[in-house]
Amino acid sequence: MRIIDDQDYHFEEWLTPEQIAADVRQVADRISADYRGMEPLFVVVLNGAFVFAADLIRAVQDLRCEVTFIRVSSYYGMASTGRLEFIVPLQQTVENRDVIIVEDVVDTGLTIHQLKAHLRGMGAASIRVASMLFKPNKLEFGDAKPDYIGHEITDEFVIGYGLDIDGFDRNLDAIYKVK
Ligand code: IMP
Ligand code: MG
Repeated sequence: MRIIDDQDYHFEEWLTPEQIAADVRQVADRISADYRGMEPLFVVVLNGAFVFAADLIRAVQDLRCEVTFIRVSSYYGMASTGRLEFIVPLQQTVENRDVIIVEDVVDTGLTIHQLKAHLRGMGAASIRVASMLFKPNKLEFGDAKPDYIGHEITDEFVIGYGLDIDGFDRNLDAIYKVK
């Protein structure tokens, strides 16, 4: 069992690189089947999703697709609805495109909820979400439940495989749970 001590936290390995690869394979196979004959546009949510996205798009070899990136930051406002800040806005038109949002983890769902509304407003033909991780107990925005999920997780904080703690540990090849 690999252990990581970062800042004041203690992390233990939860998903090995082999388990992650199997999760990615499962998601990729479902996407390949669902989008057969289509030309989807993957919208990767930076920063965290870059590792998952790199594996996922190379696991859908039979799919003709495009990949673009967006960087967002979510804040809670005073009401229950939040506000999404586009740090790196979408560089590509999504009008009439079948969009697959790629996320590292869906937690409250605020980010995905807002991003979906944004993409819908820009005329996307369809929008689905592929997320490496999903925390169902934390979900506050029903429409943010991912269509493709690598692994469900309870409420714990995780790092590795693109997920960070204060910007660090994205490079770890396994996913670690806080103890
Ligand atoms: P949401 O908008 O509440 O769904 O939050 C999603 C974002 O919060 C993700 O894209 C991550 O950047 C971050 N996040 C949520 N849970 C974790 C975690 O366990 N580890 C690292 N980042 C997390
Ligand atoms: Mg993220």
